[in-house]
Order: sequence, then structure tokens, then C-alpha cells
Amino acid sequence: MRTVLVIGIGAGDPDHLTFQAVAAMRRADVFFGIDKGAVKDDLAALRGELLDRHVEGGYRVVDAPDPERDRDASGTAYRDAVLDWQDRRAGLYAAMIADELGPDGVGAFLVWGDPSLYDGTLRLLAGIREADVATGGEGFDIESVPGVSSVAALAAAHRLILNRVGGSVLVTTGRRLAAGMPRDVDDVVVMLDGATTFASLPDDDVAIYWGAYLGTPDEILVSGDLQKVKDEIVRVRARARERKGWIMDTYLLRRDPGRR
Ligand SMILES: C[S@@+](CC[C@H](N)C(=O)[O-])C[C@H]1O[C@@H](n2cnc3c(N)ncnc32)[C@H](O)[C@@H]1O
Repeated sequence: MRTVLVIGIGAGDPDHLTFQAVAAMRRADVFFGIDKGAVKDDLAALRGELLDRHVEGGYRVVDAPDPERDRDASGTAYRDAVLDWQDRRAGLYAAMIADELGPDGVGAFLVWGDPSLYDGTLRLLAGIREADVATGGEGFDIESVPGVSSVAALAAAHRLILNRVGGSVLVTTGRRLAAGMPRDVDDVVVMLDGATTFASLPDDDVAIYWGAYLGTPDEILVSGDLQKVKDEIVRVRARARERKGWIMDTYLLRRDPGRR
């Protein structure tokens, strides 16, 4: 039976890689990659560094170009654009698995952070396996290996416990935060915010703990009262993005920060 491993490699620090991830990498016959455009060089460099360091005797990488996606769509068109892009990505994955894996072959995807958070790889693979079995194929096993997510890296960098005593934490996207800070949760982790949504929130009882390029030599941290530091974050973010050509940032919004 073929096996596909989805291995979390951490959020940017090569030392985020777990022993479990290293053991999984050593089982793989081939590593599948997707070319990510602007962030590609830095991600590919980290992947290469991890493979060079931990997989002895050479390794094989098969890359496919990431399909184009309509990033300007909004509302239901946004969901349709994402689903369409995922369908085309699934086609690429299915072809790579069919072409590159022998009957007992092991393929691996090295995914950023942890496979369970805002990463579609496991969902796509489950769909491909289902389609394969439905058309008479034998399918393949899927294994997920956890990694250090950007959320864990953010918390560590700011020495944070994300929840207050007995409280809840919401992990969401910038797109959803645009509707405002939720009323029923006081601790909100925001990912995938290309639009600095925090800067348009009117709340005056909220602190922000912001981090960009977490775990990398370029890491930037800013924290404080949201209304006091938001302009600084917008400025720092724009400068960093200009300099590197891409940015990944994550932040915690904490209502009533003095409370335990
Ligand atoms: C497609 S999601 C992937 C998340 C990943 N699976 C994880 O566990 O962190 C990409 C988002 O993760 C966050 N992110 C990933 N790596 C980051 C890093 N090194 N520093 C800050 N944020 C990061 C950003 O919010 C970015 O928009």
C-alpha cells in the first residue's frame, strides 16, 4: 500500500522540527512540493536545509507549480475561488502521487507549521484517496505528523498563555475579523491577515501581541495597547514586506488584558 506523509516542519526555525518529523522524513522515497511564488525561495531554502541536514544519502523532490487563484474575490465568490483553486491543486497532487509512487512507495509533503491549521493538504489528500477508491484504485494511507504552528511560535515569542483561566481562545482569519472583535470571546488569534484588519478595530480595551517571520532571523515582535501601537505595526509591517517581498504575520488580540 502506498503511503503519503503530511509532515509539519514548524513555522520557520529549523529547530522546530520534531524527532517524529525527522523519522518520517527518513521514510520518504519522494518529497512533493508546490511552488509558492513570492515566498517560494525562502520556503524552498528552509525545506532544502532540513532535508540536507536530516536525510542522509540524498533525496528526491518533485515540484509542481501552484495554480493561479483569484485573490480579489469577496463574499461567496471568495469561497468559490478557493474551492476552484483547491480542485486544481488536487489534480496536481493526484498526478504526482500516481506518477511518482510505486505500489509500496512513501511520498511526503512538508507543510509549514502544523498540518491542522489553515493548511488544506490533509483535506485534499482525503478527497484524492476517495476518488481513487471510487474508481477502482486501492487508495493510499495518509499519516499526519504534527509541527510547531505559528500560533505556538507567537505565544512562545511573547511568553503568552493564550487562554485566561478556564477561558476560550478563537483562532480565525483577518477576513473574518473584519466583522469586528467577537463579543463572546476575549482572546482571538488572527492568521492570514493581509489587510492589517486590526488597525480598523475601534475597541479601546484590547491589547495586541503581533509577530512576523516568527522563528526566523527576521522575526519582528510588537505588543501593547491596540490603539497605541497599531500605526507602528502597520508601518513596520509595510517596511518589512517591501524589503523581503513577502510577509507572514500572526497576532493575538486580548480584551481586558489586565484580567487573569
Ligand atoms: C496558510 S497559513 C499556514 C499556517 C500553518 N499551518 C501553521 O501551523 O502556522 C499561513 C498563515 O500562518 C501564519 N504564519 C505562518 N508562519 C508564520 C511565521 N513564521 N510568522 C508569523 N506568522 C506565520 C500567518 O498568519 C500566515 O498568513
